[in-house]
Amino acid sequence: MSSSSFNAEEHKNMLRSYFNGQGFQRWASIYGDDKLSTVRNTVRQGHAVMMDKAFSWLQQLNLPKGATILDAGCGTGLFSIRLAKEGYKVKAVDIASQMVEKAKADATMQGVNNNIDFEVNTIESVKGTYDAVVCFDVLIHYPSEGFRQAFSNLSSLTRGSVIFTYAPYNNILAFQHWLGGYFPKKERRTTIQMIRAEEMEKAMTENRMVTRNSEKISWGFYHTMLMNTARR
Ligand SMILES: C[S@@+](CC[C@H](N)C(=O)[O-])C[C@H]1O[C@@H](n2cnc3c(N)ncnc32)[C@H](O)[C@@H]1O
Repeated sequence: MSSSSFNAEEHKNMLRSYFNGQGFQRWASIYGDDKLSTVRNTVRQGHAVMMDKAFSWLQQLNLPKGATILDAGCGTGLFSIRLAKEGYKVKAVDIASQMVEKAKADATMQGVNNNIDFEVNTIESVKGTYDAVVCFDVLIHYPSEGFRQAFSNLSSLTRGSVIFTYAPYNNILAFQHWLGGYFPKKERRTTIQMIRAEEMEKAMTENRMVTRNSEKISWGFYHTMLMNTARR
């Protein structure tokens, strides 16, 4: 999809319907404890590695207990619940009501629902001011124009850092992505949108953000770039 043909509303509707339907089943089982295929198990493990690293970066910010954190695109609430258990005040937002309901149910079961304010909303429209913003494995579903709109909103909401993942463009990944289109059951794949280095730099400059840490996480079939960015 070229940036000129990007239709923000259509794209959001497509993501909402995927993550309320087939995507909910798929990701809820990856983020839960269902038995998984070897391939999906590497996605679960890679995601856990990414979250541990992100959590350690967040702790290095030395935010006080009770600091406010926005988990944008919270999914089933894995990270929100972890934050709430550490004593942070969490705003957990997701475009898919199914995801929010699951996150709420799990938070209630684990006794931390009072520390989390849930909302069905998008990362482009959510409002407020937070001590930090996190956004994991959401921007990977946005082509460059949508990525820039969403990143712009997220950086306007933080007093400090935005910790997020994205899929950097590289030829091998681009090739696999293209090849993936030929595999049967391709409808099971979530489309991953790769962002070129110059587009990433542009988004950072436009929003007056700088990179504090970046780390490529590669674990079996899970590949992502984890970024810790902050206001200049
Ligand atoms: C692959 S899951 C990641 C969930 C969670 N961040 C995690 O890492 O455990 C992607 C999530 O992003 C949500 N999402 C996609 N586009 C979104 C948008 N524009 N605004 C808010 N949430 C969105 C989906 O509904 C889904 O729950």
